[in-house]
Amino acid sequence: GARTPLIAGNWKMNLDHLQAVAFVQKLHWTLKDAKHDEDSVEVAVFPPFTDLRTVQTLLDADKIPFALGGQDLSTKDSGAYTGEISGAFLSKLDCGYVIIGHSERREYHAETDEIVAAKVQAALRHGLVPVICVGETAEDLDKHGASAVPVSQLKAALENVPASAEVVVAYEPVWAIGSGQAATAEQAQDVCAKLRDVLAAELDADAAARTRILYGGSVKAANIAGFMRQPDVDGALVGGASLLIDEFSSIIRYQK
Ligand code: G3H
Repeated sequence: GARTPLIAGNWKMNLDHLQAVAFVQKLHWTLKDAKHDEDSVEVAVFPPFTDLRTVQTLLDADKIPFALGGQDLSTKDSGAYTGEISGAFLSKLDCGYVIIGHSERREYHAETDEIVAAKVQAALRHGLVPVICVGETAEDLDKHGASAVPVSQLKAALENVPASAEVVVAYEPVWAIGSGQAATAEQAQDVCAKLRDVLAAELDADAAARTRILYGGSVKAANIAGFMRQPDVDGALVGGASLLIDEFSSIIRYQK
């Protein structure tokens, strides 16, 4: 069946809970003014943990049709793990999604493929859709080409995932994140097609056909349409531009 495009805004460590309210309200009104059709593109926001309760309450009160997600979660469900956040807590705050294995977590928090796989299992235990991030560094690209590292990262993350599970994959070349130097639409398509082959091999053909694969890395209003025209790119994971109301609302309203 057709995959509903997903535009996801990863705020990273930006916007406190007060700024988040103003931002979400303004984004909602901007989209309404622009007569955005809410059924054609799914929008998800990934605020810092400390904003989640506030944003959840706001989405609910104002009937704002954005999905909510966490930027990370613990491999564990509860217990003596100071500073960690359980998937159970995210579920209770109406999070539908959780980002897992973002390159910033892999780099600054030494998240290995094994940890990423354990977090995917934790997300599924708590009814969250994992947004599994994969991507090659500039060095990987030089040494192994674009797809080798993302393909092996995705294989590792899908270990023990049942074919019936809902997951989202985000292909983010590390060299494209926050650099202003996005991959070309053709580069993104090439790797996303290979990631879809991994879904088929590790899960099954139906999972490969229904699973959304996002591109991330310097996505902006000026380049989103090119990505969305690619057959294997089903949306975007947007960082910097997701914090700019006009830019993000233009990305959501991309025209193929
Ligand atoms: O999660 C989002 C990505 O890391 C992309 O960030 O849009 O600022 O390049 P960016």
